[in-house]
Amino acid sequence: MADEVWTVGRLLGWTTEWLATKGSESARLDAEVLLAHVRGCPRIALYTAFEEPVDDAQRSRFRDLVKRRGAGEPVAYLVGSREFFSIPFRVTPAVLVPRPETEGLVVRVLDLCRHLERARIADVGTGSGAIAVALAKHLPHAVITATDLSAEALAVARSNVERHGVVERVTLMEGDLLAGATGPFDIVVSNPPYVREDEFAGLPADVRLHEPRGALVSGPTGVEVIARLAAAAAPLLAPGGWLVVEVGPADEARDSLAAVAGLEVRPTIPDLAGRPRIVQAQRG
Ligand SMILES: C[S@@+](CC[C@H](N)C(=O)[O-])C[C@H]1O[C@@H](n2cnc3c(N)ncnc32)[C@H](O)[C@@H]1O
Repeated sequence: MADEVWTVGRLLGWTTEWLATKGSESARLDAEVLLAHVRGCPRIALYTAFEEPVDDAQRSRFRDLVKRRGAGEPVAYLVGSREFFSIPFRVTPAVLVPRPETEGLVVRVLDLCRHLERARIADVGTGSGAIAVALAKHLPHAVITATDLSAEALAVARSNVERHGVVERVTLMEGDLLAGATGPFDIVVSNPPYVREDEFAGLPADVRLHEPRGALVSGPTGVEVIARLAAAAAPLLAPGGWLVVEVGPADEARDSLAAVAGLEVRPTIPDLAGRPRIVQAQRG
């Protein structure tokens, strides 16, 4: 009977309700992204295909992905991709899923680079390479060193750097913070781990159980990595160069920047929700 056919529209409706019962706060979006992935089409194309039946093979693949989403796996890992700064990035469970709030960090660096002909930038803890690639795409003469402690993350970053054609200007380095990097840099930018150890258990399950712990947790205070980064960055910054860092607890982060000789703290920038989000310092 016609009303038993699983059309795109009916499948999306049913799945949205089911994912909502499993606690997804973006159930409709999740359902659409997963179905578009299975059908190999842009999400927008689903809207003109509501009455089209979904065949058994596609439904079976979709069911499997929806089940995994219902169990908490982030959609970005299920489809292997996430947009950041309107650029598609490959993501795997080896890297943090790039967050929209981190786009503010890119905007800030672009702003600082407006007057620089050939900015020299370091992106510390590059993960998927999201920040480094977005900057390279928007600053056609910039040269960028992108580091990460995780070889698996750097492999993902490499594939994104290649995919977006910026290999010649983005150098990937495996190591702790800026170890082995050669300055001077006009900008050191980072979205480092900043979750306190005692906060970790309270993170949403999809983050806590699926994203890499080493990308999230800093230590008992949440500012351990930021404090070490500030100390490592100061001697590598050009005079007047900037350290720009996404943070959780902003007061503590600002204090750890202020504690480093040669760095002068600059005003903290809030995110769109009004929370202090980007701390900054400038080399005197
Ligand atoms: C919060 S994630 C940010 C990833 C990416 N930059 C983004 O914004 O989506 C932090 C990254 O820093 C890396 N990391 C953690 N400790 C590090 C260290 N001591 N030196 C270099 N990278 C580190 C992690 O492996 C992870 O990829």
